[in-house]
Amino acid sequence: MNLAERIGLTALHRIDPETAHGLALKALKAGLAPVPGPITSPRLRTEIAGLHLPNPVGLAAGFDKNAEALAPLARAGFGFVEVGAVTPRPQPGNPRPRLFRLTRDRAVINRFGFNNEGMEAARDRLARRPRDAVIGLNLGANKDSADRMGDFAKVLACCGTYLDFATVNVSSPNTEKLRDLQGKAALLQLLHGVMAARDGLIRPVPVFLKIAPDLTEAELADVAEVARVTQVDAIIATNTTLTRKGLKTKGAAAIQGGLSGAPLFELSTRVLARLSRLTDGKIPLIGVGGIASAEEAYAKICAGASAVQLYSAMVYQGLSLAADVARGLDRLLARDGFETVAQAVGCQREEWL
Ligand code: FNR
Repeated sequence: MNLAERIGLTALHRIDPETAHGLALKALKAGLAPVPGPITSPRLRTEIAGLHLPNPVGLAAGFDKNAEALAPLARAGFGFVEVGAVTPRPQPGNPRPRLFRLTRDRAVINRFGFNNEGMEAARDRLARRPRDAVIGLNLGANKDSADRMGDFAKVLACCGTYLDFATVNVSSPNTEKLRDLQGKAALLQLLHGVMAARDGLIRPVPVFLKIAPDLTEAELADVAEVARVTQVDAIIATNTTLTRKGLKTKGAAAIQGGLSGAPLFELSTRVLARLSRLTDGKIPLIGVGGIASAEEAYAKICAGASAVQLYSAMVYQGLSLAADVARGLDRLLARDGFETVAQAVGCQREEWL
């Protein structure tokens, strides 16, 4: 992080978190944030579900909900970018305040509830996307939808032409009963619908499934089984948690919403490793939750992830974190004698089980 970024972050932390996030996005769009361009090397270059990534460090969903900053994000050092969640119709989300910084814990709690401008606005922006980046969309369902399962397929059908991948997000804790769609029967039906929409695209894209970190062992086994049967292209582990173990920030336990950032690291990495064992390495996994350094990105890869994503740590370390993590990962892989990311995937899985 350079001095300008440090000063910018200090100023942003003096104001309400959601307003600060809006300003950060505006600065990014205006070209005021540092963007290093693609970070890559033969060691970092990797493939997941047929997608060729310059490096395995992605931006997690929720940072750019409306696909507003695709061009600068494509040059921010990430190997791939996921925008959204987007629902069929625009919706305001939950009342403010709905985003909370837990500075002492290097964490965030959010209960946005899929605030977004709807799939048509997202589609129009995605249509003007940069072509030389890997960009995916997080699919969501409207809170008041009569057919939530159908919503995911609807958004994919609308925006799919302009995507490299799409993620079925049934793991956000902020839309009531959404997580129930992770149950076996519901998930099977939902994914069949999404796969049918995908197959209807001129250029079918890989479909990823994003799961919660709070699933029981049996629920996780069901998810793995459904993912196998429906031939999901990758699983993203994990979304935010409802647990509040070990937080230092006063009153944090009483704030409703999904917790992300440092306190999520261990829980999400354990879920990742368990999922790796359950899927026998046959479905690629994307590790997300609490990554704030190259060491943590590397740990997720060694636990079984083929690629990783991050978001919350940027609240504390700025956008330059993406490039720092990617470059650091290259050094760590080299230190341990790996010629590629793929060689390291799962090499220490047992330690997380
Ligand atoms: C999120 N996340 C998220 N995930 C998702 O699938 N769809 C979404 O719309 C959002 N929205 C969102 C908003 C905010 C403010 C945060 C902090 C997070 C979850 C995110 O993609 C990621 O899975 C978790 O935050 C864990 O990673 P980090 O943040 O600990 O690196």
